Amino acid sequence: MTSFGQRPAQTCDTYISHVQHLHTKGEERARAVQHAKGKKTARERISLLLDPGTFHEIGRFAGGNIDEDYLGSGVVTGFGEISGRAVAIIAQDFSVRGGTLGDVEGTKILHLMDHAIDMRMPIISLLDSGGARIQEGVAALSQYGQIFRKTSAASGVVPQISVILGPCAGGAVYGPALTDFVIMTKDSSYMFVTGPEVVRAVTGEDVTSNDLGGAQLHSATTGVAHYMAHDEEDALDYTRSLLSYLPSSSEEDAPRFAYTANDDDEARASEVGQLVPVNPKQSYDMVEVIEHLVDHGEFLQVQELFAANVVVGFGAFAGRSVGIVANQSCVDAGTLDVHASEKASRFVQFCHAFNIPIVTLVDVPGYRPGTEQERAGIIRRGAKLITAYATATVPLVTIIVRKAYGGAYIVMGSKSMGADFNYAWPGAEITVMGSEGAVNIVHRKELKELKAAGSDVQRARKRFEQAYSTQAVNPNLSLEIGALDGLITPEQTRQTIISSLVLAQAKRRPQRIERHSSNPPL
Ligand code: HXC
Repeated sequence: MTSFGQRPAQTCDTYISHVQHLHTKGEERARAVQHAKGKKTARERISLLLDPGTFHEIGRFAGGNIDEDYLGSGVVTGFGEISGRAVAIIAQDFSVRGGTLGDVEGTKILHLMDHAIDMRMPIISLLDSGGARIQEGVAALSQYGQIFRKTSAASGVVPQISVILGPCAGGAVYGPALTDFVIMTKDSSYMFVTGPEVVRAVTGEDVTSNDLGGAQLHSATTGVAHYMAHDEEDALDYTRSLLSYLPSSSEEDAPRFAYTANDDDEARASEVGQLVPVNPKQSYDMVEVIEHLVDHGEFLQVQELFAANVVVGFGAFAGRSVGIVANQSCVDAGTLDVHASEKASRFVQFCHAFNIPIVTLVDVPGYRPGTEQERAGIIRRGAKLITAYATATVPLVTIIVRKAYGGAYIVMGSKSMGADFNYAWPGAEITVMGSEGAVNIVHRKELKELKAAGSDVQRARKRFEQAYSTQAVNPNLSLEIGALDGLITPEQTRQTIISSLVLAQAKRRPQRIERHSSNPPL
């Protein structure tokens, strides 16, 4: 028997060039299919995402038949590097049977995920697929079931990012939904559980794919997507930026960037007080405040278009990667509602899982009142944010920049919720509720009596409100009971955050009471 090493060189060369020829042919076909639809091929996407020359493909020929001139399956899997750090890549190849998932594709994906979990590296999936391969029936469905299970197993162990670059239909959408971040391209991706045809057949509703599950819908309305990219390059670029703030696994600390203190950052930070109007009724852009505080003014927002009354995203302080949660004054005055609560809770939970410190900037007038929110389940859904902060064991630094009212204040990383360092700007309004509401309750009887006696009720009300404001709408009580560690000027904010993060850097997860599982309001 001739061993492989003893094969004549010419046979080896012929064999390799045959495989290379099939590879080239496959790529040509992929380009023809994808470019015609304005999309890139799986391999083009991988090249754009990874550092040049780092892709290490695995299972390249699985599902193909080299002797019958057929190479590979509907998914490309492998490893590579992004900014020098290892990642695992899954890229569905729409040019092969619509990128559908059959037995081979499922096996390749599961194999790669197992490796990624073992080797503690982030998993990035580039999705573009017709879903379960109809011809393979329930065997394909069961591969999805296993992928869901594996994704859940990897959750909180390694970061998982889904980039939707084409169709993602049927139950297949739950794979991305289980991952940490979903990125969609504006005009060429969509996600829905039941497609337009089924919708039409069952409900008679006529709807386009885009209206049913396009990027705009999922970025602004449902909150499924965390970023709406202009195009594929933008989607992959955002993925690279996002990864730079994340550790490779829950066993690592959050990344540290090389950082040298510089005049620009200090100058920006010294201007932050000018961005926040003293008048609490005047709004401002909290994103601008954040950009004045973080290193190099760089803030990577997550879910920018969804529940914009709360802002979440990543930045750095003196080179330390942090998650930032803040109320957005210029959207609904920064009130908390069901969507904002869920958006922020998932973000806090993610940071907690991956050792990323959280900086919270508070300017919250309360929960949005009214039947709409109560009926939407603000109690059940708002409770998620409480759980997220209450169980977070990463360093928590909170700054109250203006208003901190009632329950919404307590929820937003207050000391009583477990924050490590809490500071307020001098003009902060920290109170149970606004003076108008408080006077209506506390002085109701007196106001009624004054009205009955024909006195000037408005004047009395103003007087009560003024007295309440002076006594109760300030940081004094919080300072006295230790709910605040001190008052800082706006100019001191950046340095205070940096020194707090340095102090808290060695914070370790506390021992918890042993239990099978808590039962958080998921
Ligand atoms: C088998 C499929 C397929 C599928 C597409 N193809 N979807 N083959 N099973 N699910 C094949 C097509 O037959 C075609 O093959 C090739 O892929 C490209 O598809 P086209 O239709 O030509 O492309 P396009 O016009 O761009 O439309 C893409 C599409 C459409 C919108 C995705 O193909 C479509 O609606 N497919 C079905 C989507 C769907 O309902 N999936 C749900 C499946 S059930 P040829 O040989 O002609 O090139 C599911 C459940 C998962 O996923 C549950 C998990 C728990």
